[in-house]
Amino acid sequence: MDLSKLESNLELLKSVADRAGVEILLALKAFSFPGAGELVSRYLGGTAASGLYEARLGRERFGGAVHTFAPGLSADNIEAILRHSDHLILNSLGQWRRFQDILGSADNVELGLRVNPQHSEVAQPLYDPCAPWSRLGVPAGTLDAQDLAPFSGIHVHALCDHDYPAFERLLGAVERNCAHLLGSIDWLNLGGGLLITEDDFPVDALVARLSEFRARTGLKVYLEPGTAVALHAGALVAELLDVTENGAPIGILDASATCHMPDVIEAPFTPELVGAEVLPRDMPADEAGAGAMRLGGPTCLAGDVIGTYRFKTLPQPGDRMVFLDLAYYTMVKNTTFNGTPLPAIATWDPVSDAIEVVRSFSYADFEQRLG
Ligand SMILES: Cc1ncc(COP(=O)(O)O)c(C=O)c1O
Repeated sequence: MDLSKLESNLELLKSVADRAGVEILLALKAFSFPGAGELVSRYLGGTAASGLYEARLGRERFGGAVHTFAPGLSADNIEAILRHSDHLILNSLGQWRRFQDILGSADNVELGLRVNPQHSEVAQPLYDPCAPWSRLGVPAGTLDAQDLAPFSGIHVHALCDHDYPAFERLLGAVERNCAHLLGSIDWLNLGGGLLITEDDFPVDALVARLSEFRARTGLKVYLEPGTAVALHAGALVAELLDVTENGAPIGILDASATCHMPDVIEAPFTPELVGAEVLPRDMPADEAGAGAMRLGGPTCLAGDVIGTYRFKTLPQPGDRMVFLDLAYYTMVKNTTFNGTPLPAIATWDPVSDAIEVVRSFSYADFEQRLG
């Protein structure tokens, strides 16, 4: 992880929050690296948690306020979640009815309701919280203002890796589709999914739109990006273990798409690789041409493919490979499927060029997780 890039992302997010008069939280689901907790807390207002464990991590290791949205509350975890949260956002009115006694007496926790704004921006259904029959949030059109009596705010999350125009359309849709609700609340959480720290993101337009919205409605506004916090702030370094051939060259790495970067398969996308050109993932071997190699992991999964790349000179076993921009949704999602070792986590300070290995993993992590 590149600590300096992480900090410059945080600086930019703080400047947006200050200029627009909104609060920005880190969505821990993307990047729950406790070693960054102190740094994050210097710039952001707190964390957004997905359930008890993230809420506790936010409280104990990150600081600031903890805003929890947990689609599945249970009698076993609700009291602990309340203890570790400043905001608790419910996914249904049924959750309120079922846990009314406990929730109603949690004086220090502001309650919110997740609302589906019934506006889709995400083309891939896997990542679209507003897709038909989505389980996330109460459809705005089915709610009355009285339904919000127990809640001080609403939460809307509908973006994924989006640029400003999608945010502009989403906020417009919220203003139209939730117009009957906005007069009954104090705060609006607009979720994550916005790449505020991407090069050329129109920060001034975002600040102006948020400021105007806030001034007109009087609402307190929260954003909870995950990806944008760690964007371009980490690489995954792998070693080439073997080169084989099946119509075109294949490289087997000690890093795995399915174990270490599962979004590569789920999204799918191909991570940038230093010194190589990204080719289409499904390119047939007979069209690949000179210098092409398909890279994949050491597991049994046939689809454990990181991507297809073109090199000036084909890599050899023992070569190291640096896949870029893999700090977010990787460490938080990785598994030891097939007994595949987890990569060590290291921080790099480009000012001093110091590298610190903050965590390395061994057989014991694999063995002890299941028994
Ligand atoms: C409720 C909620 N908030 C915030 C985020 C963070 O989104 P991103 O990491 O794309 O910014 C997500 C991502 O799934 C989410 O579901």
